[in-house]
Amino acid sequence: MQSYELRQKFLGFFEKHGHKIVPSSSLLPTDPSVLFTTAGMQQFKPYYTGEADAMADFGSLNTVSIQKSMRTSDIDEVGDDTHDTFFEMLGNFSFGGYWKKEAIEYAHEFITKIVGLEISYVTVFKGSDVVPKDKESKEIWKSLGISDVREEGMEDVFWGPTGSNGPCGPTTEIYCKNANGKDVEIWNIVFNEFFCDGSREQLLEGIAKFTPLGKKGIDTGMGLERLAMIAQKTSNIFDTDLFSPIMRTIPDVELRIKRIIADHFRSSVFLISDGVLPSNKDQGYILRRLLRRAMTYAKINGFPKEGPADLIHAIIDVYKAQYRELDSNRMKIIDMVYEEREKFGATVEKGLKELEKMQKIDAKNAFFLYQTFGVPFDIIKELRAKDLNQGAFEDELKKHQELSRTASAGMFKGGLADHDPKTIKLHTAHHLLLAVLGELFGKTVKQKGSNINQERLRIDFSFDRKLTDEEKKKIEARVNEKIQEGLLVVKREMPKEEAEKIGAEMEFGVKYGNTVLVYFIEDKKGNVFSKEFCGGPHVSNTSELGKFKIMKEEAVSAGVRRIKATLE
Ligand code: SER
Repeated sequence: MQSYELRQKFLGFFEKHGHKIVPSSSLLPTDPSVLFTTAGMQQFKPYYTGEADAMADFGSLNTVSIQKSMRTSDIDEVGDDTHDTFFEMLGNFSFGGYWKKEAIEYAHEFITKIVGLEISYVTVFKGSDVVPKDKESKEIWKSLGISDVREEGMEDVFWGPTGSNGPCGPTTEIYCKNANGKDVEIWNIVFNEFFCDGSREQLLEGIAKFTPLGKKGIDTGMGLERLAMIAQKTSNIFDTDLFSPIMRTIPDVELRIKRIIADHFRSSVFLISDGVLPSNKDQGYILRRLLRRAMTYAKINGFPKEGPADLIHAIIDVYKAQYRELDSNRMKIIDMVYEEREKFGATVEKGLKELEKMQKIDAKNAFFLYQTFGVPFDIIKELRAKDLNQGAFEDELKKHQELSRTASAGMFKGGLADHDPKTIKLHTAHHLLLAVLGELFGKTVKQKGSNINQERLRIDFSFDRKLTDEEKKKIEARVNEKIQEGLLVVKREMPKEEAEKIGAEMEFGVKYGNTVLVYFIEDKKGNVFSKEFCGGPHVSNTSELGKFKIMKEEAVSAGVRRIKATLE
């Protein structure tokens, strides 16, 4: 069964069973606490928690989707038979519609009858101190004739929140055999029974609280690449119809390297199409890392000079029927890859020579090679320092980001604090604006970037649609109101934990030291309107600012908007 048929059959099967087909959301989620969309359920989070009403939005309590997803946590495994960074997740979802029996029966029927595969074994939750063993699922599987039901724990069969909180609950997984007889997990069915107030890590450490959800929910996810591997009887995902036309465009080198190149370019194509630009931060950093790693392999192996255009065309051609945006973004994607290749190509050769000369490689000089010549972490590790620690390398990267941010750096043109009085005023106005955005659209609106000069301020923030004219007016009026109130701007130094506890605004992706400066904008009685981690400088009273005016509001990438504003 070809992959397009698997997609069609999946959607058709669940549509027939009363599920509304919902298109994939972007790879860039609106939730600012996660870098990428890693699962189909992410776009449906508010339906599980009861913040949104599925019946009103979909005309059904059940939905089905094929979601573009990115997971970079297993990047070191890419090159083996089953791991990739980008994948498509087939998923069916229910928000209070059906529960364990139907969810398991649907999955069983789809796998064994519709696709005609044999289930090798399944897993169920064995129970923990807090959540009892999932006897019900075990019984359901047995009633369907599946005898090999294995019990596993919290680490493996308990879904935790994506991001800083969310729905969670026990899961049951389906394993099938590939052409080599190896068991591969293909489908994960989550029974969302609880709301967890912390991250998955906090949940596993036992320090997150969970409370029962108002309505129980179903969330399932099946990797299309793995399903195609089983259905097409191949021993690995790279021999399926999703990858083989891509693999054919890559010159013959070590198989693992070929697979890494195919995977990394495929992810990069999707990321660029969804609006990510190569950079040194957040999603842009991951894109840069994937591209540069793949390009270094190409260089080391003496790939043709004309570059990866054929490979990119092949990727787009495999996916264009399902994701039309790839075709319309074809030239943009090629241009961006070549631009990055040019920037990188000039220096990387020097960097590789430096790397060869170095006696000892530790996190510090690995970061030097990355920072100065752009040599990717993974390449340094692979060629010269097998035990190089990624955490230590990333600490160096964060130290650098913090350095270029403190003294208000990063925010100001030219990198270092700009003490021009106009810039200082705009800086204070920037704090007021962020607080107003939070007040209007809720605390999930996070700052994603900023820049201030003498003429204007610029703020990038997570938000998934254009602002209306009315909203822009409202924002202006509210900032001006706060200016007229003559609020005090007060700097306080405090331990980072305390600043976090009081909910001071911090920029996502930035690491702060143990003692931080927090700027408060408050009235004389101490009623606080804004509190932000910040190095200053600021005016001392908002009445000094003048009149605030929005000049422009525009999109930066999917889920991120930009406001440019000034003071008159
Ligand atoms: N959220 C679960 C997963 O990603 C099931 O969709 O595995």
